[in-house]
Amino acid sequence: MNAPLTILALETSCDETAAAVVQLRAGKLVALSNAVINQDHVHTMYGGVVPELASRAHLEKLLPAIRAAMSDAEISYPQLDAVAVGIRPGLIGSLLVGVSAAKALAWSLEKPFLGVDHVLAHLVACHFLDTTPEYPALGLVASGGHTHFVYMESPLHARVVARTRDDAAGEAFDKAASILQLGWPGGPLLEKLARGGNANAFDFRAGHFAGSSDMSFSGLKTAFLYEVRGAPNAPNRPARPAPPELTPTRQADLAASFQRGVVRGLEKSLRSSWETNPCLSLCAGGGVIRNESVRDMLQAFAHTMNVPLFLSPKEFCTDNAVMIGGLALLRLAAGERDPLSLAAEPLSQLRIS
Ligand code: KG4
Ligand code: ZN
Repeated sequence: MNAPLTILALETSCDETAAAVVQLRAGKLVALSNAVINQDHVHTMYGGVVPELASRAHLEKLLPAIRAAMSDAEISYPQLDAVAVGIRPGLIGSLLVGVSAAKALAWSLEKPFLGVDHVLAHLVACHFLDTTPEYPALGLVASGGHTHFVYMESPLHARVVARTRDDAAGEAFDKAASILQLGWPGGPLLEKLARGGNANAFDFRAGHFAGSSDMSFSGLKTAFLYEVRGAPNAPNRPARPAPPELTPTRQADLAASFQRGVVRGLEKSLRSSWETNPCLSLCAGGGVIRNESVRDMLQAFAHTMNVPLFLSPKEFCTDNAVMIGGLALLRLAAGERDPLSLAAEPLSQLRIS
């Protein structure tokens, strides 16, 4: 049997400063540590991530995160087999902090370096369950920056079969929560409020496109805004009545109906993606996969199709370095490594079919 492979992985693509030690033992991925330093307190007052502030916070927090990951895993630097980092997509200033640190570590330790795609890594989070997906698999990545269905020939090779044409599902959740002044990041707050509401009170719908499995969430967000604040008055037309008072019941109904709109939008795209790309497994990862309604919809779909479902464990749904280490280890085991000249990039390189 092959000796275990151990990797230190870093992740700084957006607003989480993360480091983790991950092992590949007898073909199974195991997280030995998972340090995530959240920057929410830095960005909350702006209602969204401020790129320059995110980069500065990464500079301050990355070394403490690395030290925590190494000491929690009880691993010393010479025991590492490689150093990995999320190299794309993301905010370029934020990515550069993690990428520079990972390259410096790999070079000084004389270990292989791997830069991996963050979107693909969200789906490798599904490999930290008791059983691993069979391939080809259809994957849903739903986060603050991406909403993609991908056809995966293997955990290392994927092509996009459907995507949002505008806002990501997480971004739509965040905007709806901000319209209701719930705070930021809004997804979990909106889900909490939705629990007490009637999901059929308002008919919010995501957009879809003829001849495509793509989705759109921006119209859903505008419909939500108009329902809360009232639609703007049209020129030369009588003024519209003011919207009803935003009582706690109305707020909960709005949140529940919005969530249902997002879930139904994802479901419609899933059905159409599956029809053209039936697979042996269904996988899902990314921050929005923490949402119970989204998880329920995926479970119901997998049950109807009689296909095994692999949902990323909740602690590995939002950004973390465990998923980066997982993807890098699978690549390392396949004999892959990257040159230190590999550059950080703002966009994913996943092929669009
Ligand atoms: O994967 P992630 O940490 O970052 C990106 O790669 O974008 O995802 C963050 C997104 C945010 O938009 C957040 O509001 C959303 O995931 N999110 C949720 C929930 N938890 C996090 N959305 C809906 N329901 C949740 N429970
Ligand atoms: Zn992410």
